[in-house]
Amino acid sequence: MSFEVPAEAYDAFMGRYSRPLAEVFAEFAGLPEDGRVLDVGSGTGALTTVLARRFGESEVAAVDPSASFVATAAARFPWVDVRHGHAEDLPFDDHVFAATLAQLVVHFMGDPAVGVGEMRRVTRPGGVIAACVWDFEGGRAPQSRFFQALREATGAAADESDRAGARRGQLGALLKQAGCSDVVEGELTIEQAFEGFDEWWEPYTLGVAPAGAQLAALDDAGRDRVHDAARALFPPGPFTVAVTAWAARGRA
Ligand SMILES: C[S@@+](CC[C@H](N)C(=O)[O-])C[C@H]1O[C@@H](n2cnc3c(N)ncnc32)[C@H](O)[C@@H]1O
Repeated sequence: MSFEVPAEAYDAFMGRYSRPLAEVFAEFAGLPEDGRVLDVGSGTGALTTVLARRFGESEVAAVDPSASFVATAAARFPWVDVRHGHAEDLPFDDHVFAATLAQLVVHFMGDPAVGVGEMRRVTRPGGVIAACVWDFEGGRAPQSRFFQALREATGAAADESDRAGARRGQLGALLKQAGCSDVVEGELTIEQAFEGFDEWWEPYTLGVAPAGAQLAALDDAGRDRVHDAARALFPPGPFTVAVTAWAARGRA
């Protein structure tokens, strides 16, 4: 899945969820006191922000295959070592990081076992490895109601529940398969408030991620049907959405 979309579109679509998620994910990971840390699949920098605040920008590295996201992150964090690359072939030496984290990335890796193995390779022995992915299987992702509306309106939706890490236990199994010890699994829940349905809907029209791509592939009438089906899922006026990610941490 390519994320060659403008950073502003990503921030409106997913950043509003991934920024608060980064706060609770960093807590869950049990970060070390000091050392260099790596944000794998850093996107526009939701988790990078939290790591930079905690460790200082010069102690943080970030890597992502999206050229637009790499450019955005490099501009936002001038002292972070931002690189272009994939998790499956991390452009770093062995054992250089005290912690290596991947927020909302494992399910986009072409080969998650290789990607998590690479995360372990670049982490020093005893260092932290952690990952989280939305609970697509349980319908608790930010996009879950969109996929429900898409299915109702069109009869089909690729709802990401078949992706690595989207089901209970998968992230922990990947960490163990990569040779991590002390693997702990958990759930991370955050809430987002919306002033109304239009604020919730508008980011899906920006073509971001599998959800936006599936909407963009419809004709106008199809998009209208999805819009109306989604509209019926929410109350009138302001509402709050609670969303949950699976998480796992371990030691290299
Ligand atoms: C849902 S975004 C998450 C971005 C950021 N971590 C956040 O929480 O906002 C998924 C990110 O994974 C990146 N990505 C996709 N495939 C990847 C891979 N094989 N290795 C590393 N990153 C990847 C995308 O470019 C995108 O930035």
